[in-house]
Amino acid sequence: MRSPSIPYLCRMEALLIQIEELKKEIAAFNGGDAEAFRIKYLGSKGLVKSLMGEMKQVPAEKKKEAGQLLNEFKLFTEERYEALRSASASNGKAQASNIDLSLPGDPMPLGSRHPISLVKNRIISIFQRLGFAVAEGPEIEDDFHNFTALNLPENHPARDMQDTFYISHPATGGADWLLRTHTSSVQVREMEKGKLPIRIICPGRVYRNETISARAHCFFHQVEGLYIAENVSFADLKQTLYFFVQEMFGETVKIRFRPSYFPFTEPSAEMDISCLICGGEGCSVCKRTGWVEILGCGMVHPNVLDNCGIDSSKYTGFAFGMGIERITMLKYQIKDLRLFSENDVRFLDQFSGAV
Ligand code: DAH
Repeated sequence: MRSPSIPYLCRMEALLIQIEELKKEIAAFNGGDAEAFRIKYLGSKGLVKSLMGEMKQVPAEKKKEAGQLLNEFKLFTEERYEALRSASASNGKAQASNIDLSLPGDPMPLGSRHPISLVKNRIISIFQRLGFAVAEGPEIEDDFHNFTALNLPENHPARDMQDTFYISHPATGGADWLLRTHTSSVQVREMEKGKLPIRIICPGRVYRNETISARAHCFFHQVEGLYIAENVSFADLKQTLYFFVQEMFGETVKIRFRPSYFPFTEPSAEMDISCLICGGEGCSVCKRTGWVEILGCGMVHPNVLDNCGIDSSKYTGFAFGMGIERITMLKYQIKDLRLFSENDVRFLDQFSGAV
């Protein structure tokens, strides 16, 4: 017959072995994380608790001894926990004391708007105050909207005034597609909608097959303006542009109109402003004339109105078109057109905060 005490002795021995193992493990605990230690050993589901639970199995005569062992073990574990906690607290303090809260934060450099965007927005806001709405159109255009509707039929010599990038792609089905050479194409699209009166400005990018230099680029930006209603006159055009120039460049700037030719306007004119650099005295910027050209304009040609389905016997209108780069160069005295597309931050940074 087996002695009934043997299993109990075994349980006691097992407890002793387990405690010894755990003590070694605890002494070697080097995780540095006091909280992880507490949860593993001293938490409500920790190892000390589960060893305590084994007391139930220990026979009455061994309970005292086992109780002492377990209490000792618990104390040992708690001491180790305290040591870990104070070590990590003083570590934290040391780290905290390395932080100088009075130091300023790392600066976050702010970007700046591109000068072309700044001037474009300025132009838009000036014309919006006169009741003009913004209209936009596609940069890839067809021949009709870029040329034909604007009184530039096929083989018209004035087509050569602008060197055009043509697009040939099987997807275009052989039709003539091109990169718009001016934003006047947006006029056509707006007129075709047939809603009158029309009072719009059309800002956007245009393309021309030009050799890149300080004064020319293969892409640039324009703002087109169009006002069509009954009884619109050249006087309205002059007053509108005069208001624009004064708002854009200041009240002392003078304007003048010179007769010119555009197929889509009749009569046509180019508008100059008095030189901003020399005030009209004559300098290298104005080529000693005292004037610099800033835009083309005129009364919308009746053929254009008819091509777009507007009754030219009832309605008249004016149109104008200006290059945003040109206005920007005059406003900020920039001498090289290429700066606008080179993305040199030393150039662009100078416009942070500018309006
Ligand atoms: N489309 C012309 C160009 O790109 C500019 C222009 C001139 C627009 C006269 C107009 C205008 O609306 O009336 O050179």
